[in-house]
Amino acid sequence: MERIGVLTSGGDAPGMNACVRAVVRTALAHGVSALGIRRGYAGMIDGEFELLTSRAVGGIARWGGTILQTARSMEFKTPEGFAQAVENVHRSGVEGLVVIGGDGSLHGARELHKAGIAAVGVPGSIDNDICGTEMSIGVDTASNTILEAIDKIKDTASSHERAFVIEVMGRRSGYLALAAGIGGGAEIVIVPEHPTDMDKILGEMKAAHDRGKPHFIVVVAEGATPTATEIRDAVAAAHSGFDARLTVLGHVQRGGSPTAADRLLATKLGTGAVDALLAGKSGVMVGIRANETVLVDFDEVLVCNRPADADLVRLDEIIRL
Ligand code: F6P
Repeated sequence: MERIGVLTSGGDAPGMNACVRAVVRTALAHGVSALGIRRGYAGMIDGEFELLTSRAVGGIARWGGTILQTARSMEFKTPEGFAQAVENVHRSGVEGLVVIGGDGSLHGARELHKAGIAAVGVPGSIDNDICGTEMSIGVDTASNTILEAIDKIKDTASSHERAFVIEVMGRRSGYLALAAGIGGGAEIVIVPEHPTDMDKILGEMKAAHDRGKPHFIVVVAEGATPTATEIRDAVAAAHSGFDARLTVLGHVQRGGSPTAADRLLATKLGTGAVDALLAGKSGVMVGIRANETVLVDFDEVLVCNRPADADLVRLDEIIRL
C-alpha cells in the first residue's frame, strides 16, 4: 500500500484532529503517503482530496473540531453519489481509507469495503453509542464540558433553592448523562434506554427536599422519556418548594480543546487504524477494550444496539442518596 486516505464524518468530536495527526504520521513512518478528504463523504463525492504532510498536521492535536471538516452526506447514500465517491477514491490513488466518525460514518465505510476499497473505521462521537469499543473519541471531553456546566449551575441552584433540569446530548444514548450526572452529583439522571415515570422523578424531588437538599438537579439525555421540557413543567407545577429552570447545553458539548485522555485515545486508534490497513485488514473498526486496541468487524459493530452502561446505572442509584 503506497497511499492512504483519511476523513472525518458525521458530528465533529474533540480529539478527531489528534486522530488525523496519528493517521498521517503513522502512514509517513511506514513510507506511505496520506491524503486528507475534506467534508467527509461529501468531499469524497466532490473530489476534495489533498496531500497531508507531517507539517500540515503539526500542532492540531490540541484543537477541537476537525481540520478536515465534516458533513452528514445524504448524496453518498444515493447510487449515483456512491459511485462517484468510489470513482474519485480510485482516481486519487488511495488504496486504503481511515474513516473517523460515528455509526452513520461506519455504515458508509462498510459500503466502501464491500465495493472493494480497503476501509478501517475509528469510533469518533461524543455519544459513546458505538458497539465494539468501550470508549469513542470525544466522549471524555464532552463529559468534562458537561461536568463543568453542572458544577456552575449547581452554585445557582443551591443559592436560590431551585430545581434545574439540564438537557445533555447523546441522541439515543444515556452515557454522557450518566457519566456527568454521577460526577456532578445530579439527584436523578434520565436516560433514553430506561423510560422513567414522572411520579418517580417528582418523588425523588420531594425526597431530596425532605432530606434538606438546597437544590434538585435532573440531568436528562436528549431522546429520553419524559423530555427535559416535560420534566421542567411537571416540577414547576408540583410546587415542591423548588423553583424550576431548564438549561439545554446544546452544541457547547461538542467543541473545545480535547482532554489528555481523548488525545491519547485518538492517537492510539489512529495509529491502530493505519497498522490494520498495512496488515491487509479491511471492514473492521479499531476499538479500545481494557486499554488495548482491538479490531472489530463492521458487521459486529453495526448490528448491535448498545444498552445503557449497567455499572454506571448502578453507581448513579447508589451515589445520589
Ligand atoms: O452524534 C453527536 C450529536 O452531537 C448527538 O449527540 C446529537 O443528537 C447530534 O449529534 C446533533 O447533530 P447536529 O449537530 O447535526 O444537530
